[in-house]
Formats: sequence, structure tokens, C-alpha cells
Amino acid sequence: MALRSLATRKAIGLGKSVGLGLRGLQTVTLPDLPYDYSALEPAISGEIMQLHHQKHHQAYVTNYNKAVEQLFQALNKVDTSTVVQLQGAIKFNGGGHVNHSIFWKNLAPVHEGGGEPPHSSLGWAIDTHFGSLEALIQKMSAEGAALQGSGWVWLGLDTEFKRLVVETTANQDPLVTKAPTLVPLLGIDVWEHAYYLQYKNVKPDYLKNIWNVMNWKYASDVYQKECP
Ligand SMILES: [Fe+2]
Repeated sequence: MALRSLATRKAIGLGKSVGLGLRGLQTVTLPDLPYDYSALEPAISGEIMQLHHQKHHQAYVTNYNKAVEQLFQALNKVDTSTVVQLQGAIKFNGGGHVNHSIFWKNLAPVHEGGGEPPHSSLGWAIDTHFGSLEALIQKMSAEGAALQGSGWVWLGLDTEFKRLVVETTANQDPLVTKAPTLVPLLGIDVWEHAYYLQYKNVKPDYLKNIWNVMNWKYASDVYQKECP
């Protein structure tokens, strides 16, 4: 494979292609963070970021790849029981990879614009749908704090009605599991592994400080692509 092709695959988080039959199977790789582990301090410690990326996200990548390789083998053998049995692992680990790949891009160091409010059309849309940016932040923080167990709180765009929505998902369910028309603009990881080393049991403080490193430019870019 050409070097350029390999670089492109790395950039979009694709790994090796496993040849098992006529259709090659695409596995995924851990994407690089677009900043240093300590770059989000003091909002999120470098220790959390390193563990979160190198251990937690890596585990989702490893276990997703293992499950899809097993799935491909089971499909080739028409082993339907195993195909069904693997769905849970694929949803959980694939969702973990999808969600964390978005999460890293949802954050930015303060000196690179983290925390800067959106000034583009997304800013107007937020005012229209939620009253103000402050009201949206309060709503997402409250819903994240109230989420029982592990999960995510999202700012999404309903592409059918061009409407902004706040949703929560359990475990590693991606936003699209709520409705196929939903596109994530921002997702906040409210699993304990995202904050406990620094914030202990005070999840609301994590949900207060993460806004200081929120990458609204990423959210604005996704919004403008969907609503040009
Ligand atoms: Fe996480």
C-alpha cells in the first residue's frame, strides 16, 4: 500500500484490511489527539487525558476490531448464533470508538480557542432554540449531572427538521441510536473514567469546567456543513 494511502487511512482512524472472503474487513485504529495530554489543564488533567486516550479508547478499538473479525468469520461460516451473540460487543466497543473520536475533537486548549463561544450561524441557532448559550450550557450540564450510570450528553442537530436538540445516551451508545437523523455537534463523556481522578464524586464541577475547553469551532463547522 502506498504511503499516502496509509497516511489517509490513519487520519480517518482506519486500520488494516482483513481479507476474509470477497469483501475486505476494515478495522479501526486509535486516532491521535490534536493536542498534548496536559493541554486542557486545569479543566481536565493530563493524567486523565492520557489514561482516557491510551487505555480506555484503545480498549474500545482493540475489542471492536476483535469482535468484527469474529463476526466476519462467523458470517463466512453462516454461524448465525455467533453473529447474533457478537452484536452487543460491536455496539458497545464500536460506539466507544465513535464517541471518543468525536469527544477529542470537541475539546481544545484555551490558547487554541477552547471555550470561545460560537459566533457563526450556530450561535444564532442556539439563541433561537435555547434562549442563550448560557441556557444551553446549563441544560446540558444539568442533564449530564442527572444521568444515572455511565453515558453521554449531546448537543445534536436533527437534520430532518434543522433543529438543535439535547439528548443523553447510555453506556457507549452513539447519538444516532436515538434517531438516524441526528448528527452530533458536541458530546460530553460523563463516564467516571472521564473525571474521577481529578473531580472524585463531584461530577457537576467537571461539567462546569469542561466548558472552558469546549471547541465550539468544531461544532460550528459541523453545523455549517449540515446547514449551509
Ligand atoms: Fe470515555
